Amino acid sequence: MTTAAPRHLVLIGMMGVGKSTVGKKLATKLSCPFIDLDAEIESRAGKSIPQIFSSEGESGFRHLEAETLLQVLDQPDSLVVATGGGIVEGESVNALHAATCVWLTATVETLVKRVGSGEGRPLLTGNVEEILGELLERRSAKYGEAATFTVAVDGKSVPMVVREVMSKLEKSC
Ligand code: S3P
Repeated sequence: MTTAAPRHLVLIGMMGVGKSTVGKKLATKLSCPFIDLDAEIESRAGKSIPQIFSSEGESGFRHLEAETLLQVLDQPDSLVVATGGGIVEGESVNALHAATCVWLTATVETLVKRVGSGEGRPLLTGNVEEILGELLERRSAKYGEAATFTVAVDGKSVPMVVREVMSKLEKSC
C-alpha cells in the first residue's frame, strides 16, 4: 500500500512581505508544525544568514537553501514552511510544485517600509528601494509560476492576511 505524499503549505514572496509572521499563525490555525527555512539553514550551518553570505557567498547560501528545502519538504507530516525571498531562484524551485504555494505579494513601497534599513539581509546593502524593485521584477514571473494562489498584503493586518489565505485554501481544496 502506498501512502499519499504530504501536502505542505509553503509561503513564498519578497523579503519583508511577512512570510514568517503569517506562516506561524497559519500553522497554529491548521495545527501543523511551522518551519522557517532561513532559521533552519542557520541552525544547520551554525551561522547566521549574513555570516553564510560572507563566508560562502550568495551561491553557497543558495546551495544550502536548496538542499534544506528538499529535506524539509521530504518530511512525512504536513508542514507550514516560510521560505526566503530568493527560493524561486534556487536549484530546488521545482520541488515547490508538489506543495500548495501561497505567494504573498506587496508593492515595493510596502516592502521598503517593512524592511527598514535592511539589517540582517545581506542583499539589501545600498539603495534598498532600487534593489527590492530589481529583485521583484526579476522574480515575479518565477513566483507566479510556483504559486497555487496569491494574496496581496498591502494595507492589511496579519489577521486579515491569515483569514484571506485560509479562505483561498478552502476554495483550492
Ligand atoms: C533573501 C531573503 C531572505 C534570506 C536571504 C536572501 C532573498 O529571507 O533568505 O537574506 O534572496 O530574497 P526573507 O525573505 O525571509 O527576508
